[in-house]
Amino acid sequence: MLCLGIETSCDDTGLALNEDGRPVDSLLASQADLHAIFGGVVPELASRQHSRFIGPLFDELMRRNGLSGSELDVIAVARGPGLLGSLLTGCAFAKGLAFTLQKSLIGINHLHAHLLAIDLAGKLPFPALGLVASGGHTEIFRMQSPWDMKRLGRTLDDAAGEVFDKTGSFLGLPYPAGRQIDELASSAGDTQFELPLPYIKNDNLDFSFSGLKTAAIGLASDLGLDKSNSMRAPFCRALNTAIARTLRIKAERALKANPDIEVLCLAGGVAANTMIRKGLEQLMREYGGTFLAAPAELCMDNGAMIAHAGYLLASQGYSHGLELEAVPRGRPIPDDARLSL
Ligand code: KG4
Ligand code: ZN
Repeated sequence: MLCLGIETSCDDTGLALNEDGRPVDSLLASQADLHAIFGGVVPELASRQHSRFIGPLFDELMRRNGLSGSELDVIAVARGPGLLGSLLTGCAFAKGLAFTLQKSLIGINHLHAHLLAIDLAGKLPFPALGLVASGGHTEIFRMQSPWDMKRLGRTLDDAAGEVFDKTGSFLGLPYPAGRQIDELASSAGDTQFELPLPYIKNDNLDFSFSGLKTAAIGLASDLGLDKSNSMRAPFCRALNTAIARTLRIKAERALKANPDIEVLCLAGGVAANTMIRKGLEQLMREYGGTFLAAPAELCMDNGAMIAHAGYLLASQGYSHGLELEAVPRGRPIPDDARLSL
């Protein structure tokens, strides 16, 4: 089964091919440089860039693999959550291909795809807990199978990546700032600063990072970090520590609430963070369980994860019709794929 994956949920246009669960090839057009000018993603510009890039990327992917559209079996597309204009560009393109080529169409939950990318590095065991942390999302799932994921918690406001990016922007770091903050934090070794652990004094699995964002920018402002670099590294270490500890606390709570689960998965752009990985790895060592993280090159948005999720679902008989709806961030994604095998 040859599956084309299309990712346009935010500011990366990603197209990839997957054959029977094996990644074949992928292409990515990043818009990071454009949005860096504005210090964050400008939704209208993102959708315009997707419409410019998507056709040429498809042609190039087919050309360099010696394929024609008729040789595809399945068209998989990220249908949400994300920026609506961006999602609509990918969904319209996918529907056009599926209709004209008379191929199966499958809409993919972008967050599920981040987690299923782990399966590309080695068979993903189920059931598992899945934590997705990215620029727009922080969510935790009970993963029963690739087609059965139950959301246990979500962010009530900002995502973990938003804290990295907006604090980084205050520090004058280029967008997206997560990787640089991570590097600065590692260079510090230790820190004299402490930031609050947000929204942990409750018994739920939701997250709320907006208070930490305010506290971090407040501390950076008090230290004059927008003008001077002197305390930047220890400040970044305090920020990294607060986010890593918060994610660990909630992950441990999720493990306690799901005692039959022995596997914890981490995915999404923020999953590249060294302290977050270390904290969760240690947690699973203490639990005698397994910690799995998406390979670094597949943490950020990409087409390969959509193509792989598409293969996993389509090979079980799942598909969508042309009524497939793009679902923006903040609205629940319906479980509306039909099962035909
Ligand atoms: O998954 P992704 O590519 O896009 C979204 O769906 O949002 O994630 C991008 C996010 C950005 O917020 C970026 O700052 C963050 O991932 N990021 C990191 C690191 N590398 C990327 N955050 C913390 N530490 C990193 N090493
Ligand atoms: Zn993402």
